[in-house]
Amino acid sequence: VTADDTTLFIFGASGDLVKRLLIPSLFNLDRDGLIASEMRIVGIDIADHDDASFRRHLKDFIADKQAANHAESRGGELDDESWASFEQRLHYRQGDFTEAAIYAWIEKRIAESPTGSALFYCATGSRFFGDIAQQLGHAGLMKEPEGAYRRLVVEKPFGHDLESAQALNAKLLSVMREDQIYRIDHFLGKETVQNILVARFANVLFEPFWNNHYIDHIQITAAETVGVEKRAAFYDQTGAMRDMVPNHLFQLLAMVAIEPPAYFGADALRAEKSKVLGAIRPWRVEEAAENSARGRYEAGAFDGKAVPGYLEEEGVKAENDTETFVTMKVMVDNWRWMGVPFYLRTGKRMSARDTEIAICFKPAPYSQFRDTEIERTASNWLIIQIQPNEGMWFDFQAKRPGPELEMDTVKMGFAYKDFFDLPAVTGYETLIYDCLTGDQMLFQRADTIENGWRAVQPFLDAWSQNPALEGYAAGEDGPRGAFELIGRDGRRWHQVGSATGPGVA
Ligand code: BG6
Repeated sequence: VTADDTTLFIFGASGDLVKRLLIPSLFNLDRDGLIASEMRIVGIDIADHDDASFRRHLKDFIADKQAANHAESRGGELDDESWASFEQRLHYRQGDFTEAAIYAWIEKRIAESPTGSALFYCATGSRFFGDIAQQLGHAGLMKEPEGAYRRLVVEKPFGHDLESAQALNAKLLSVMREDQIYRIDHFLGKETVQNILVARFANVLFEPFWNNHYIDHIQITAAETVGVEKRAAFYDQTGAMRDMVPNHLFQLLAMVAIEPPAYFGADALRAEKSKVLGAIRPWRVEEAAENSARGRYEAGAFDGKAVPGYLEEEGVKAENDTETFVTMKVMVDNWRWMGVPFYLRTGKRMSARDTEIAICFKPAPYSQFRDTEIERTASNWLIIQIQPNEGMWFDFQAKRPGPELEMDTVKMGFAYKDFFDLPAVTGYETLIYDCLTGDQMLFQRADTIENGWRAVQPFLDAWSQNPALEGYAAGEDGPRGAFELIGRDGRRWHQVGSATGPGVA
């Protein structure tokens, strides 16, 4: 269904996100006929552009990216004809979005549009989010005229700790309603993440085992092989924890851990997520220090090619003590999960690109197959592979053929590519379409965000008292402390990059 007509204003239009993800996804939506033919996209930023140079700048970037076949150019085919029609939508207004003049201009621009609806997208540095929202509010731009909407999309990071997230929520909510706010987390745009709910709640098979009677522990991993790339200005102030944990990893945790929502709708789903994140045990600062480890990559090698350490990367300052890897253990204190640890880890320059949820089941209560190696070490694992090799793999034990009784671990699996075409998309398409159609299901609510920060705050406090970092060589899966953390509980990490199943090379 084509979304209603609107004007999309993008603050921070000359930034990275816009050319890398937003514009390619809008282009894909347009090509699929999902946005109204009258919809205009207006970029606003300080950089010097007019409509023509803005269009050219975007087209050149997307075409170059595609030619280089970069992992992140998941933007579909850019054919000249579709682009020529798409670019008619694109406009640019040079200006400073911290000043009131721009908002007066926006008001005029909306008044000339057919519907009066507007979607404002904060693709700026996070320090501007609150002020943009307030300027919009004070200019009366968040007041919805009869039959039209006004919505605000806010990128991440939403705050840099609990207090700043609360302050930002308060700022936003002083000038608009919660149902006008779309706090984006692009992990929720991933098919495999949305599928967790379908796997859990459209099948009878999983849910009976989905609790502390059968599950020993859960591991959530987001491993990347890339380093800081050209993003030191952002990343060196942010670090692995703030970049990935209260947002992406906690969204994965919420998807596996929530109770079945009362119905499939934004309010019911977000209430369950908020509840489960609110149930994460608030560690005391000493406990947080014990239950976490943080690291920073050092020079190492990938495929025989030497790569520099984090401190040698352009724009990085040693005194920022920025971590590029973090791991932590969290406990969810509720009826379903009491006693089941969740081990989280994420890092740059790890051995393989691998985002997965590994669910380790308890061993059989009694096993007659004693003394075999497998009996002591194996249990059932369910691996939900978010990316790459999208799918779900179930590891279980089978008898190895032969006269002696020996067991081996075998796999049952579902690979997306065997059943579905996964279209070449950025992952932002669904999210932007949802903003345009007013569906908040895949967006974070104020309380979810704050519950996430509440759970990570003790770790941040522990590290501000003791900013020590452990090194790990590029290509390793984090520092020694990461292995010790899980090892102390008599468990081990599911090997990064190992979740291949039938049909996957
Ligand atoms: C972003 C982080 O939000 O997510 C990046 O800022 C990270 O540092 C990225 O690389 C990972 O997303 P994806 O979709 O590539 O797994």
